Amino acid sequence: MKELYIVKLGGSLITRKDADEALVNDGNLKKVSGEIAQALAKKKFNLIIVHGAGAFGHVPAKKYKLTSGFKGKEQSKGIALTHASMERLNSRVVESLMKAGVNAMAFQPSAAGLLEDGRLVYFNLDAIEEMLRMGVVPVGYGDVLVDLDKGCGILSGDQLVPYLAKELDASRVIIATDYNGIFDVDPKDKKARKIDVITRKNVGILSGRKTSGTDVTGGIKRKVEEILELAERGIPTEIISGRKKDFLKRTLLGEKGLGTIVE
Ligand SMILES: Nc1ncnc2c1ncn2[C@@H]1O[C@H](COP(=O)(O)OP(=O)(O)OP(=O)(O)O)[C@@H](O)[C@H]1O
Ligand SMILES: [Mg+2]
Repeated sequence: MKELYIVKLGGSLITRKDADEALVNDGNLKKVSGEIAQALAKKKFNLIIVHGAGAFGHVPAKKYKLTSGFKGKEQSKGIALTHASMERLNSRVVESLMKAGVNAMAFQPSAAGLLEDGRLVYFNLDAIEEMLRMGVVPVGYGDVLVDLDKGCGILSGDQLVPYLAKELDASRVIIATDYNGIFDVDPKDKKARKIDVITRKNVGILSGRKTSGTDVTGGIKRKVEEILELAERGIPTEIISGRKKDFLKRTLLGEKGLGTIVE
């Protein structure tokens, strides 16, 4: 099989996450869709896309306390609403990719996976593998899943990406967000400086860093921790800006070091 790349399109990039609104950032979405299409036209590789949630997922998940597990019937509505909201975002992402010329196809994590105490313990990959063989680009997302311990829980895109990367032996993982990588302090701060390489040794500096808008899945520190484990298995990950012109395309075409490398 061809090399497999996995791209995460962060909620901070494709939605108005900083305003905590369930609105798509159409400009950013169109831009990254175009760059993905251009990269696929230039180079042969298999691709899986996972997108984040922004307010589409984080806000209803918080309102109905879905990360605390299933405590009672009032949450049933929250489960349904949160998933439906993510499906709406997913269809916008798939549509944008298809318009750009990518053979994108939605896959629904809540129908394929199971959590156990918040961790993904099972995910049926049979269909995804066949889709890749046919040149289709599966597009998954952060979703509400059944949790075998707690009833329900949230699978973040940041947890799904490393899982898929490990199980499907990806050769590269690219995380595109609104800022170009990981910074020593909140990137909104003028003094913030990009960290070029993050390892187990310097990850501590992210302690206490918050995210923009609502995030029920741990924000930036948890994001980096999810991918450090991947790096330790030899799958390189890069966090880049999806807003900077051609950064995603150039990274897909093999350039390294535009953002933050996790190793
Ligand atoms: N030290 C830091 N370096 C980089 N980003 C940071 C840092 N501290 C906080 N952030 C914030 O983290 C955000 C990226 O993480 P976040 O989980 O919010 O985005 P995402 O994963 O794209 O969204 P989603 O979870 O909805 O997919 C950036 O928008 C930035 O505002
Ligand atoms: Mg997040």
